[in-house]
Amino acid sequence: MCGIFGYKGKEVKLSCLIEGLKRLEYRGYDSCGVVSYNLEKFLCQKNSGKIQKLKKDLGAKLNDKYSSALLHTRWATHGKPVKLNAHPHKSFKKNIYVVHNGIIENHLDLKKKLKKKGYKFKTDTDSEVVANLIASFYKNSIEKAVASAVKKLKGAFALGVLSESEPDKIVAVRHRSPLLIGVADKGFFLASDLPAVIPLAKEVIYLKEKQIAVLEENKIKLYSFEGKKLRVKKEKIEIKTEEAKKKGFKHFMLKEIYEQPKVLQDSLDIYLKDSKINFDQLKLTKKYLKGIKNIFITACGTAFHAAYVAKYFLERHTKIKVEVDTSSEFRYRDFNVSKGDLFIAISQSGETADTLAALKKAKQQKAKVLSICNVIGSSLVRESDSFIYTPAGPEIGVASTKAYTTQLICLYLFCLHLATIKNTVPKEERKKILKELSKIPFYQRKILKQNKKIAAIAKKFSKMGCFLFLGRGINFPSALEGALKLKEISYIPAEGYPAGEMKHGPIALIDEYRAVVCIAPKDHLYEKMASNLQEIKARKGKILAIINPADKEILPFADQAIYIPRLNYQELSPLLVAVALQLLAYSVARNLGAEIDQPRNLAKSVTVE
Ligand code: F6R
Repeated sequence: MCGIFGYKGKEVKLSCLIEGLKRLEYRGYDSCGVVSYNLEKFLCQKNSGKIQKLKKDLGAKLNDKYSSALLHTRWATHGKPVKLNAHPHKSFKKNIYVVHNGIIENHLDLKKKLKKKGYKFKTDTDSEVVANLIASFYKNSIEKAVASAVKKLKGAFALGVLSESEPDKIVAVRHRSPLLIGVADKGFFLASDLPAVIPLAKEVIYLKEKQIAVLEENKIKLYSFEGKKLRVKKEKIEIKTEEAKKKGFKHFMLKEIYEQPKVLQDSLDIYLKDSKINFDQLKLTKKYLKGIKNIFITACGTAFHAAYVAKYFLERHTKIKVEVDTSSEFRYRDFNVSKGDLFIAISQSGETADTLAALKKAKQQKAKVLSICNVIGSSLVRESDSFIYTPAGPEIGVASTKAYTTQLICLYLFCLHLATIKNTVPKEERKKILKELSKIPFYQRKILKQNKKIAAIAKKFSKMGCFLFLGRGINFPSALEGALKLKEISYIPAEGYPAGEMKHGPIALIDEYRAVVCIAPKDHLYEKMASNLQEIKARKGKILAIINPADKEILPFADQAIYIPRLNYQELSPLLVAVALQLLAYSVARNLGAEIDQPRNLAKSVTVE
């Protein structure tokens, strides 16, 4: 949550820095600000609202060049999203500016102590406390003051610090919130996430936990919180700029929906070679995998729905007991994970605070931890014993799409890998599943070709007061995901339910003003879904059926239908249903004129609890 951008070098135009910040806007967008310096000239400007407004207000100043700068785009935690609470925050004494991502858990205690020392506070934020705390330690070295201050902070924080007394230095800190430094010919660019520096830098330095970096025009120094000097490790940036651009699509979300056949093919190319599943890079031995007693899977939001799909597939094919829970619940439960258990954490960003906390708890109980993640250098990956990379590429739209389906395909493959080792899946069946998996990109393209038709259906449904998404078995999580996609970008109330639960309450909602999306591919639960549909029709519900072509039983009861190709192995259908429901949500939101890539109140990485 919140995006930090910064610069230390010879000089760059303010417009270039604002563009950098814009690439982080998906992390939060309720207010923003900048402090920059060049030749004794300081500029500090903050605004409520989006970066576009700040850009407009800066006007001709955008052409000015600066040698040091800190920028911030905020997702409010402490204090309302108003100009006063926007970053950078300036200390009461000593003129120290701070931008912060994360939460300072002991800020009230620190604030009390600082007030006793005569510090005055203008805002409700925990971040202003950091600025004043650093000021309270400042004598003649900003890096020393920062090093002393971070030892007093509890919680999660990535910081950028600029002192008016030493404006030729930027100090950066990472502790449980991501921060990296892009290395360019023009200097160093500080950022919360890689896509922000891709167009500017050739190399990257990923700050690790509890590290402090001091950036000067031509050099960079790195320290641990304990004051030990560390070696600076630069890595080449492999991702191309185009991946972080819209490429002619109206929204990142739509572009990312359309990228799914490609990124799923990439996943297959990595993990399935000549019909052989290849997880050679896993640091979990065959002996260990064979002996797994229980599997626990945790994740948040969309990633949790991927976990839920995996539960059905894993239990069926590996015969291992699988428990799934959202990370925010898991971390506070008295669960017993032990040595022979596998703990899987799934996350697009790898920075989700609750998932990281759940993982740490499992590790304390000596479980092996496998993460499934889209960001190689993320905190989640570094904390795990082993990890499976989902090659979705940068996902910029706040609503997750391609990250979800790459998580699914990697989970399907991992499950089959495990089942092969445990000898719990017959050879022929395994072959059949793998053959069908390799055709998924082709089938997804077929669904994408129906976009116009789906948009027309969406138009008919976008005035509905609420949506129920129903599915059974492995498509119950698809119903949860369909409802989440719709509500987060269109703001229409939507619920996902197992269709069998209808009669236990939700059926009371149904009338001619409510839409019911029924996910009913021709699988072993199809007949049950057909009965549910009739019950809905009898109560005048408006039905949108997600069915296979040539469906005869359900179609007559449906008001509209979206067709997904019939698979020889229907357990893989969540990979197709997802695409249809993403397109539906996208078109409904567009009809309503919603802000698709940046829905209100949300942020891409939830780095706070
Ligand atoms: C929904 C969405 C969120 C994320 C959730 C977890 O479209 O994107 O629900 O799935 O915040 O984020 P990661 O996967 O980064 O841990």
